[in-house]
Amino acid sequence: MDLKEVIGLKEEALKKIDEAKDLKDIEELRIAYLSKKGKVSGLMEVMRSIPKEEKAAFGKEVNIVKDEITKALEAKKDELKKIEDTKRLEAEKIDITLDAYTPKLGTLHPLTLVQEAIEDCFVGLGYKVAEGPEVELDYYNFERANIPEGHPARDMQDSLYIDEKTLLRTHTTAIQMRVLEKEAHDLPIKLICPGKVYRRDNDDATHSHQFMQAEGLVVAEGITLGDLKGTLQFMIDSLFGEGHKIRFRPSYFPFTEPSVEVDMSCHMCHGKGCPVCKGTGWIEILGSGMVHPNVLKMAGIDPERYTGFAFGIGLERVAMLKYGIDDIRDLYTNDARFLEAFKRLD
Ligand code: DAH
Repeated sequence: MDLKEVIGLKEEALKKIDEAKDLKDIEELRIAYLSKKGKVSGLMEVMRSIPKEEKAAFGKEVNIVKDEITKALEAKKDELKKIEDTKRLEAEKIDITLDAYTPKLGTLHPLTLVQEAIEDCFVGLGYKVAEGPEVELDYYNFERANIPEGHPARDMQDSLYIDEKTLLRTHTTAIQMRVLEKEAHDLPIKLICPGKVYRRDNDDATHSHQFMQAEGLVVAEGITLGDLKGTLQFMIDSLFGEGHKIRFRPSYFPFTEPSVEVDMSCHMCHGKGCPVCKGTGWIEILGSGMVHPNVLKMAGIDPERYTGFAFGIGLERVAMLKYGIDDIRDLYTNDARFLEAFKRLD
């Protein structure tokens, strides 16, 4: 073997290294050339049979060849490793364009929307919001509302009694009575009291044994029916849009005197007459009146000095009119498809 062949071996090795396609090829080449039994080690064996004077030059060349092959292998290995790493990263790349899990958000219930709209309207007028218990004493629900035991007006509200003295309140007027008692010494009073109420009723498209009301109450010196009318006008306009007419019809509630039933001009046909207002142009919307002197007296308020107005409005009725709902039960059966329709109103 001579130097030419050594160089030939080197060139052959470098060519193969250059052509290596992957790390496996590199490892095979390393074994083929540099391992103990490899071709370069074989050259060392050849050294022994080389004439003494050529040994040094041959040995030097073999070392250079070994060195060059080692470096070429290292360089190619680095290059291939980088390529393989990039390929692996490409393959493993997380696709951040995929939708993440989006939790399903609920919506405000239409009755909550109406409750908030009423509260907003009155809070804007300086009213406070008050609540009371749903399991109520007969005393606040009836007695203090000027409906003593045996009074025929009790028949107007079929009730769900817990025991002789306790019932599920039949109207938010019970909250009014509690507030009057508590705030009698802190006049004037300006309150809006929303809440659930219950009656012994058979459920159908327009009746529900559970429903919601908001009670309004103002007691101060010099309050008149005119104040009531202006206030209700403001509320109706806030709920249904400006420009509604309202009218008072004489009515009877034991806790107000005089009592009025309030109609608003139909928000659908603006008074012309349509199926919603049954052709009359008017829609009955709430009951109200001037707080009865007996009610004020029972609370310890002097009816000669103070007067007040009160009203009670049904939230289901407002929701049904406002959103065109034709079955009250839709508000209580929690069908997600129905409730989702209110998403955009939240
Ligand atoms: N409590 C009455 C009802 O449930 C509604 C009502 C009428 C409330 C007149 C009032 C009022 O405060 O003044 O039918």
